[in-house]
Amino acid sequence: MKEKLEQIYKEAKEQIEKIDMTQGLNDLKVKYLGKKGELTEILKGMGKLSPEERPKLGSIVNEIRDSIVEAIETKEKELKQKELNKKLEKEKIDVTLPATKITRGSKHPINRVIEEIQDLFVSMGYDVISGPELETDEFCFERLNLPKGHPARDMQDSFYITNEYLLRTQTSAVQARTMLDYGGNKPIRMICTGKTYRREDDATHSHQFNQVEGLVIDEKDKNVSLSDLKGTLEIFVRKMLGEKTELRFRPSYFPFTEPSYEVDVSCFKCGGKGCNLCKQTGWIELLGAGIVHPNVLKMNGYDPEKYGGFAFGTGIDRLAMFKYGITDMRYLYTNDVRFLKQFDRFEK
Ligand code: DAH
Repeated sequence: MKEKLEQIYKEAKEQIEKIDMTQGLNDLKVKYLGKKGELTEILKGMGKLSPEERPKLGSIVNEIRDSIVEAIETKEKELKQKELNKKLEKEKIDVTLPATKITRGSKHPINRVIEEIQDLFVSMGYDVISGPELETDEFCFERLNLPKGHPARDMQDSFYITNEYLLRTQTSAVQARTMLDYGGNKPIRMICTGKTYRREDDATHSHQFNQVEGLVIDEKDKNVSLSDLKGTLEIFVRKMLGEKTELRFRPSYFPFTEPSYEVDVSCFKCGGKGCNLCKQTGWIELLGAGIVHPNVLKMNGYDPEKYGGFAFGTGIDRLAMFKYGITDMRYLYTNDVRFLKQFDRFEK
């Protein structure tokens, strides 16, 4: 019997040695240690032995069983490690492969100009105010001295949504909102940048564009004269278009200012000599501006006897076109990535 057991042990060891897959090892486990396994068979037959022989043989069987279990466990570990190594080998990452390129967006030229304008005016103590793009006729026109039926409304073809609501045609609407907000007794120094809409569509006018509005109100003797307006605009255009830029005020008409001006800037391309950009005149029309009309002050809660101020407005799209040499305004809202990508070279 003992020989038979040793024979089983020897065989088992040999077979375990040869195995090179975990599945095979499981089969061997069943063969030697399972319910119908060879060792179990021997244990079953132990009843036939004498009481003296039984414990002796029992301990040998147990010893052999332990040795086989140990051999299987050692082999199992070895195989698992081998399989893991194989897997790692297969899944190895080649760190020298070129990486997928990450494409980064860049700031839109309009936003660049807006940020530049806001930084400048904030540095001069202005508040940055915003107003709704869907505006009422009251704020867009009436409170700016443009009652219903006023001929100057024709200057701005509008998108009406209902009789009362329209897409704002000018950021000037925010002038009235700010005056009412400030309550008629506080000085105002604000700019507002934002989208505006008109029924226009060609290379230099689009149905959707951006404006910046400026409004300064204070007691009449406190830096709110025409010369203050001129000085403010000088700082503004020189910062945006170059230190040598000159201003020219031409009398004009806007219902919310009196007197009103259209402000030209000396051509930054030719320096005022005359070129195709300024149509040989040396000047480019850029802003609307003026002294706030007493009616507008009164309608929006400020006493025109005590308070005065100036206002100005300009198109941001045109500024961006001048600054970056863009020839068609429509590029600014069609958002073709080939166009937009060119601006990442200005990224800091
Ligand atoms: N809102 C005018 C426009 O869109 C521009 C303008 C002119 C704004 C005179 C002003 C101003 O604040 O005082 O044509």
